[in-house]
Amino acid sequence: MSHGLFLNEKIKNVISEVVEVAQYLWEKGWAERNAGNISVNITDLLPERVNFFTDYDVYPLSVDLSYLARNIFMLTATGVRMRDLAKAPEKGLCFIQIDATGKGYRMSEFRSGLPNRQKLIPTSELPTHLAIQEMLKRSHPEMKVVVHAHVPEFIALSQIKEFKSAVALNKLLFGMHPETKMFVPQGIGFVPYSLPGTESIAMATVKELETHPVVVWEKHGLLATGISVIEAYDTMDLLSKSAKIFLLCKSAGYDPEGLTNEQIGDIPQFS
Ligand code: 13P
Ligand code: ZN
Repeated sequence: MSHGLFLNEKIKNVISEVVEVAQYLWEKGWAERNAGNISVNITDLLPERVNFFTDYDVYPLSVDLSYLARNIFMLTATGVRMRDLAKAPEKGLCFIQIDATGKGYRMSEFRSGLPNRQKLIPTSELPTHLAIQEMLKRSHPEMKVVVHAHVPEFIALSQIKEFKSAVALNKLLFGMHPETKMFVPQGIGFVPYSLPGTESIAMATVKELETHPVVVWEKHGLLATGISVIEAYDTMDLLSKSAKIFLLCKSAGYDPEGLTNEQIGDIPQFS
């Protein structure tokens, strides 16, 4: 049954978006080695809410996710290179279903594209992806996607003391490029450094994503939500352009002027 998911037309469309974005992440230099991960809530793309993967073991969850009971997710597997995922998604994507209690999940049994073809295991950022997916289902149900990538402009900015807050970052980013306010009017959230893959980074990220579509993980990268994989990618792309403009001015030896508050106030919002 689980292999059949690759044949569902709607899921095939999502997979082709994942393939497209995985290639962008690699080309942009946002996905060195196995960096980056993606999750998509595909529950509504399936014809009926059945129990998939019933023959497989249940893996425990450290938090109660009963609100996501029986929801099905497509996730990148841990250790997978985005450049490889773009070529052979079936070797780097896995599917999981939260069980009926919300205390565990079952997963598909695919083999990875890695040399020893070990079983696919979901991304090490699974706690964060699932915590965010739960919040999205509750508060922003049209949003189905979470994308994380190592965007160097933001790793660099978050190394600088004066930009370690959402307020300071948004003031900077809105001033660098009018499109920023136009398409990401809620701005970016800031998540102080926490060990990747932990419950603490998951909780801090969810809190920031209640009011922002994207966050910076201090000294680590960006994480964006979206209606689609492409939309989440576009948000990161736009913000990275603004950050890059600032860093280009600085590296040319100049302080950028930035837009005035009045100019920023005049910008229409499309999101
Ligand atoms: P995974 O390969 O486990 O998804 O980890 C990549 C990453 O970027 C961790 O933050
Ligand atoms: Zn990462």
